[in-house]
Amino acid sequence: MSAPNIPVWSPAELHRHLSESSRFAILDVRNQSEFNVWKIEGKVPIPTINLTYFDLLDLEDEDEELAAAFARSIPIRLKDELPLPGQPVLAVCAKGETSPHVAEGLRRLGYEAYNLAGGMAAWGDHYEVRVIEETPRLSILQISRPARGCLSYLLASGGEAMVVDPARHIETYTSLAAERKLRITAVLDTHLQADHLSGGVALAQAVGADYWLHPYDSIYPDDLLPATFPFRYLEDGTTFKLGKVRVRALHLPGHTLGMIHPLVDNRFLLSGDTLFIDSIGRPDLGGKAKAWIPLLFDSLQQLLALPDSTMVLPAHFSHMHEADAQGCYRATVSALRTRNEGLRMLSQGLTAFSAYIEASLPEHPQSYDDIRRVNTGLLQVDEAKASELELGRNRCALSQREAEKQAGKEASVSSRLQTLGYSVQTPWQRFISG
Ligand SMILES: [Fe+2]
Repeated sequence: MSAPNIPVWSPAELHRHLSESSRFAILDVRNQSEFNVWKIEGKVPIPTINLTYFDLLDLEDEDEELAAAFARSIPIRLKDELPLPGQPVLAVCAKGETSPHVAEGLRRLGYEAYNLAGGMAAWGDHYEVRVIEETPRLSILQISRPARGCLSYLLASGGEAMVVDPARHIETYTSLAAERKLRITAVLDTHLQADHLSGGVALAQAVGADYWLHPYDSIYPDDLLPATFPFRYLEDGTTFKLGKVRVRALHLPGHTLGMIHPLVDNRFLLSGDTLFIDSIGRPDLGGKAKAWIPLLFDSLQQLLALPDSTMVLPAHFSHMHEADAQGCYRATVSALRTRNEGLRMLSQGLTAFSAYIEASLPEHPQSYDDIRRVNTGLLQVDEAKASELELGRNRCALSQREAEKQAGKEASVSSRLQTLGYSVQTPWQRFISG
């Protein structure tokens, strides 16, 4: 049965609504296991109901129109869970192919319902670009992948560009370079990425530039097999001349052994997975947490010694509320001193810092092992497997566990709806209970 032609939100429109803390609810009809791994999150909690498509669907007979069946079954199955008709509800599924029927059913019940175009797959592959610096001397673009919390950067000066931590959709960067008439002269990864598939090698090949990586991070940590692709050694002090500015590599291990932090024009620090806005990087992904925690401790101390005005630009974020009013994920060293919990723990000394880290480590996602094998060229995957490996938000920061605990304590959907001003006493609830 063909999908009804109903209004949609593109991933970009969804991002705008999330950024503006718009009031809407989500009806997510994916399987519960998929939903538990990954859901849409905004600056404020979004009232979200998860009921699978087939649990929601109750056909009277084979010929019944899907939207009509949903219009009949939604009031029965969801009872008090949805807001009052007339209010916005976004229907979400894996690829945006089944949720239009749900959205149409909601519309027939009087809801201002939309379908998420392309579903969670399209949301996961959506990118946003924000300008960090735009002067004749230097441009810095922050390219975020909001659903995953990944950040990459395009640095440009004098017609030359460098791309740092590119995601696998390399057309994002080649398009930006073409729009701005830039020649990409260097591509680098700050470290061997575990949470997402790097586009570094492919992008470098596509534009005829060198790919740079610290040699320690070219080795798969479990079996010590080396990377299968050519790359140039990125080491402490490696300095790039990019147009009118210099980019100097600071090697500060801890998250990985080869963790590099590009310092741009002595003013901007690309902090990789060592230092985020509200959290710090986890030192356990190489399976050597005890040995690497002291490295991370020393590295963070060195980052704190940078001038107060140094602007920190991380490689990840955990929550949208970490963005500033312009939607950029950035903060000065001075601001992070007080804001960042991991940095505050440094003053307690190494023993207390180690205990804090060990108590805050999130689980180690199994997919991270395969992702690192792909990122060292030891494993090839097709697009379907690549998407599967990248499902969900990154888990590179320490604070995730705390965030997960908080999520577990969240009130029921109904009480969250009330918190956001929705009425939970819907007409059908009154009808059913009355
Ligand atoms: Fe990482």
